[in-house]
Amino acid sequence: MSTGYLELAERIAREAGEMLLAKRPARPEVLATKSSPTDVVTALDRAAEELIRARIREARPDDAILGEEGGTTGDGRVRWIVDPIDGTVNFLYGLPEWSVSIAVEVDGEVVAGVVNVVPRGEVFTAAKGEGAWLAGERLRCNTGVPLERALIATGFGYEPGRRAVQGEVLAHVVARVRDIRRGGSAASDLCAVAAGRVDGYYERGPQAWDYAAGGLVAAEAGARVGGLHGKPANPGLTLCAAPGLFEELHDLLAPLNPERDA
Ligand code: IPD
Repeated sequence: MSTGYLELAERIAREAGEMLLAKRPARPEVLATKSSPTDVVTALDRAAEELIRARIREARPDDAILGEEGGTTGDGRVRWIVDPIDGTVNFLYGLPEWSVSIAVEVDGEVVAGVVNVVPRGEVFTAAKGEGAWLAGERLRCNTGVPLERALIATGFGYEPGRRAVQGEVLAHVVARVRDIRRGGSAASDLCAVAAGRVDGYYERGPQAWDYAAGGLVAAEAGARVGGLHGKPANPGLTLCAAPGLFEELHDLLAPLNPERDA
């Protein structure tokens, strides 16, 4: 069942990626700001989301859609969770780390996910129970890596108060791990865990459109994806790593109360 959803999601994510590559001007302009002056939207975030929504509606008119730019429409059992450009700041600056992220949820469970890291031409896919894939290769996350040798990806929110706390938490984490990476696209960070390019990921503040597709890719590659104290991945904190490292990272983070804002 999830294969049909995955094929459609992949086709749409590829088409949106091609449109974005073709239309991205050398210096994209900021159209509007959202939660803070640094939380930006470009015309192409909106155009890509409109394209994705139109394609979903053509194929599956009764499904609900949650999109970063357009919010929720519809209320079907099947919900598409869309980030038209995850990593908008990278897109703005021409850095090669932004992605089109599309997940399909049925009765509240994500069953298919596609993350198209467009500038690199890498399309990560996963279907529930059927594995995670990149260019025909099955993905497996790194296992058996202890915290002190782990390369950990993270990200930051846009609001200054939240960033102040994220900085405090980061100061504790960076002292305990191999190193930190801040790629700028949460969806791509989760796929990097799946591909073994980093060992783990954590972030305070990602939304469902940031982690739904990449979270399935990571989980299908063997990683554990969740929040603090047994919760599922959520905007309070989303964590991802192979079992063992996940628990070590969790136990490092939990006492730091990373879900708070200043
Ligand atoms: C952002 C990116 C970033 C993460 C932020 C997200 P956007 O998404 O995923 O890596 O740190 O939390 O908001 O705004 O570029 O779609």
